[in-house]
Amino acid sequence: MDPIKLVKGFKDLLPEESAKWWFVELRARKFFKNFGFSEIRPPIMERTELFQRGIGEGTDVVEKEMYTFTDRSGENLTLRPEATAGVIRAYIENGLFTREAVSKLYTIGPMFRRERPQKGRFRQFHQINAEVFGVAAPIIDAEIIIMVNEFLRDVGLESLSLEINSLGCSECRPSFKQELIAFLEAKKETLCPDCQRRIGINPLRVLDCKVRTCQEATVQAPLVTSFLCTGCHAHFDELQKYINRFGITYSINPKMVRGLDYYTKTAFEITTTHLGAQNAVCGGGRYDELVKQLGGPDVPGIGFAIGFERLVSLLPMSNLYDNSPTLFVAPLGATAHEKTFALLNSLRLSGLSCVSEYNANVSLKTMLKRADRSGARLVIIVGEDELLKEEITIKDMQTGKQKSFLLSDWGKIIATAKQGEL
Ligand code: HAM
Repeated sequence: MDPIKLVKGFKDLLPEESAKWWFVELRARKFFKNFGFSEIRPPIMERTELFQRGIGEGTDVVEKEMYTFTDRSGENLTLRPEATAGVIRAYIENGLFTREAVSKLYTIGPMFRRERPQKGRFRQFHQINAEVFGVAAPIIDAEIIIMVNEFLRDVGLESLSLEINSLGCSECRPSFKQELIAFLEAKKETLCPDCQRRIGINPLRVLDCKVRTCQEATVQAPLVTSFLCTGCHAHFDELQKYINRFGITYSINPKMVRGLDYYTKTAFEITTTHLGAQNAVCGGGRYDELVKQLGGPDVPGIGFAIGFERLVSLLPMSNLYDNSPTLFVAPLGATAHEKTFALLNSLRLSGLSCVSEYNANVSLKTMLKRADRSGARLVIIVGEDELLKEEITIKDMQTGKQKSFLLSDWGKIIATAKQGEL
């Protein structure tokens, strides 16, 4: 029978990779906790309407990328293409806004977008997503940007560039949009078919189209930053003051508009030159009108999401992600196998990571080879002769040294194993 294949654009995370994921996840949890965040885990599937209303009908994500289906009872459901809308739904539905004036929530998990798969772009991918509700002041925009920038550096990423922009608000964006549409209409023939269509639905997206002719056509396009109202202007200025005070490098990119419709004021992206076309490791921004739009109170919000796969692909080589066991337990012969069963599990219950051999007929030579491949530095050899003397031998695979221990000296055995070398 033919084996069944993986779904296109999806990826298996194999054991040698998962150690890196654990490393990043643990570091994120610790880092975000220091900044006052706690975890929320909304479900992976939501009503389709949530994303249509939240992300915007005219976005690529809603228009062509969602995994949407009707379930057996006729409900229209979607596998989440991003986390923000679901976190807000949970924030509203569980009345979190009534508990605290400010909520800082993060979530880590899979997202689904039916995009064209390529390097750094998958149909199931993972995000580390953080949101803050209840702070209108730009100090939080700066805090969030600094937190994510420093987190990415903390896990070892280098050569990152941070770009910020302000997308205005419902007061000042309409006049910018009007001017932009007029500009784009005049250049329509030179734009790619997608952008020609976007003029009517989502004109801002034309500004960050990757097609060369579109980029050339928009060189002289009006810039959102020239249209900001007094409030948005002051917000953007103050955000920069805070970032400058902390001292991280950034640039202002007035053409960075983000792919989702809900942003107001601050938008930001962190990119790297090492990822090819899919160069964004993190994207985020403020969304002061979204909670209300989704049926909640008038509470401002801001957040970001890091692309997990992209982050992991940029991690430097490091022994920090090593998930090798500490010990390999090698029983020689059937009696030793039987007797070792209790020893092996006691070692594990004492907090040691151990692997062993389940086949009683395997030779010491083969077992040592397997021990070596497992990455364990110490091997506990349990031979039949040794068992008669109530002893075991510990071998250090790196130095070749060996030492015998009486089984009654359990404390010493554990201490040596925990030390990880002879
Ligand atoms: P986004 O820019 O759509 O924002 O996605 C954030 C990050 O997810 C991207 O920068 C990228 O690293 C990763 N990503 C997106 N699509 C893919 C894909 N197909 N394959 C691999 N990685 C991908 C959001 O999702 C917003 N919800 C972020 C946010 C939170 N804004 C405010 N709060």
